[in-house]
Amino acid sequence: MKFLQLASTVAVAALSASSVSASPLKNEALKYPGVQRSIDVSAAKRQALSSNTAPTSPLTDYQQYSYPAQLSQAAYCRLPVGTTVGDAQLLWTAGDGEATPMVYVAYSPTKGVIVSHQGTNTSSFQSLLNDLDAVQDPVDSRLAYLGNVKVHGGFQDTWLRTADAVLQQVQSAIATYNASSVLTVGHSLGASISLLDALYLKHQLPSSSVRSVVFGQPRTGDPSFASAVDSNLAGFVHIVNGRDPIPHVPTAVDYRHSSGEIWINPANTNVAVTCPGQENQNCMNSVLPAQYDANDHTGTYFDVHIAGRGENCPPVINSS
Ligand SMILES: *[C@@H]1O[C@H](CO)[C@@H](O)[C@H](O)[C@H]1NC(C)=O
Ligand SMILES: *[C@@H]1O[C@H](CO)[C@@H](O)[C@H](O)[C@H]1NC(C)=O
Repeated sequence: MKFLQLASTVAVAALSASSVSASPLKNEALKYPGVQRSIDVSAAKRQALSSNTAPTSPLTDYQQYSYPAQLSQAAYCRLPVGTTVGDAQLLWTAGDGEATPMVYVAYSPTKGVIVSHQGTNTSSFQSLLNDLDAVQDPVDSRLAYLGNVKVHGGFQDTWLRTADAVLQQVQSAIATYNASSVLTVGHSLGASISLLDALYLKHQLPSSSVRSVVFGQPRTGDPSFASAVDSNLAGFVHIVNGRDPIPHVPTAVDYRHSSGEIWINPANTNVAVTCPGQENQNCMNSVLPAQYDANDHTGTYFDVHIAGRGENCPPVINSS
């Protein structure tokens, strides 16, 4: 244990030193310049990261996450109602792909009612991130049961544009199909929105089993929010691909990831570890800022390229 603590102290020191001397990320590789700003201001703050060094375990059943990844990519594809993705049939869609990312509700005989949010396009996401630390808001009254917690104001505002319509559509699908489970999925900003949806649905639908599996999620709330997610949404999973910078923002002083990280390493492979606790230093936090690679944001996540707009539509699982 002593050794682990020492190793962790050394790692934090190395991280700080490296952040100071790190050359800026190449802008052409970085689709979200707001992320670069955040990384620049984060150097001094990184020391506040948790010292959680709980050991990781190899992920043996990675295939279970391919379908959630495919369903996440589907939100970028503007598929009409009635389309099927895997065994899920789209029942309802909304959003404009700009201020309001696209969202759909679907029903899958194997997974239950599905909610999937698109990550917004790069320019909108950048403007959300540019306000970084200034925009933490108390959680909306819909999530007041979580207690005195704060979330990213821009993410919450975006979530609120569809939260009630999604709830209504999920209730209607549960009634139509006599469904007992709900799964929310999403990528990037869509991951944060889908997490907020899951917390809202969980509270509104106490007789349903609500789960959430998300990809490339930015930090979404403060440490109290992260712990409230842990207490209220058992089994939440956020999957990080390799050296993706997006899960590292906003910075980890005012913000904190909840538990449930799965870290794909090397990037774009099916080799991954599960990471106990919040902000485990043996997972994505072991990557130095100078090593971040924005290309990792779109995956491959377990044989699925969550390509965003324009690619992998309709979405497929490229099983190797
Ligand atoms: C991206 O979002 C911006 C700002 O909302 C909007 O002006 C632009 O048209 C969007 N681009 C695409 C490709 O949807
Ligand atoms: C609905 O599903 C439950 C199990 O989840 C079952 O007990 C019940 O009979 C079903 N109702 C109908 C009308 O199919």
